[in-house]
Amino acid sequence: MSFTIAIDGPAAAGKGTISKEVARIFGLAHLDTGLLYRATGARRLEGMSPIEAAEALRPEDLEREDLRSADVARAASEVAAIPEVRAALVDFQRAFARRQGGAVLDGRDIGTVICPEAEVKLYVTASDNIRANRRWRELVSKGATTSPEAVLADLRERDARDQARATAPLRPAVDAVLLDTSEMSIEDAVARACEIIRASRQD
Ligand code: CDP
Ligand code: CDP
Repeated sequence: MSFTIAIDGPAAAGKGTISKEVARIFGLAHLDTGLLYRATGARRLEGMSPIEAAEALRPEDLEREDLRSADVARAASEVAAIPEVRAALVDFQRAFARRQGGAVLDGRDIGTVICPEAEVKLYVTASDNIRANRRWRELVSKGATTSPEAVLADLRERDARDQARATAPLRPAVDAVLLDTSEMSIEDAVARACEIIRASRQD
């Protein structure tokens, strides 16, 4: 039997951190779907057509070291607005979601488009400033030189593009549970996500 948990939300809200922990705790597989768009964006920066890049994507492309950079993040959100790019990535995500033993997928359109039938849907948010500060700390700890203000501007630009696009825009599914992590530690956010999942498993 498959069991799918969909975790969506804006940039640096805590989706990835919560998804990894939830997957570990419940023994589920995890797919960070942002990596698919980041890997496609990285290829675009190298001069490849984004549609061809998405169609030719291989699992090892998701392991590239440079996918976390701000340039790749911007390129990812640009290619993510192209309907053919999104279409090329649907089958892989749906097959992952249906795998035996269950799966957690995090991204922007998991609860709305990729897995509208997911057993649990979370929409993770936090205030813009808190998200920017968290992402800034993360980037600096990996050796990047940037400011919280520059990261905030990047996140706002990306969120606006993700929310405004015509195909699979970022928005909470009508049946998603909202989880605002602004005032929560990672441990608190994971604990709350686990409570929501346990409650819906008992339904
Ligand atoms: O996947 P997403 O972009 O939504 O966010 P993330 O990569 O999980 O989290 C962004 C950063 O915020 C990471 O460095 C997390 O450790 C941190 N974080 C936090 O400090 N407090 C939380 N409640 C959640 C995430
Ligand atoms: O970690 P962060 O939240 O900053 O970004 P990400 O989840 O790695 O996603 C990078 C970009 O890919 C986003 O800004 C979106 O434009 C796009 N994306 C998407 O359109 N749909 C998804 N399911 C996942 C990511």
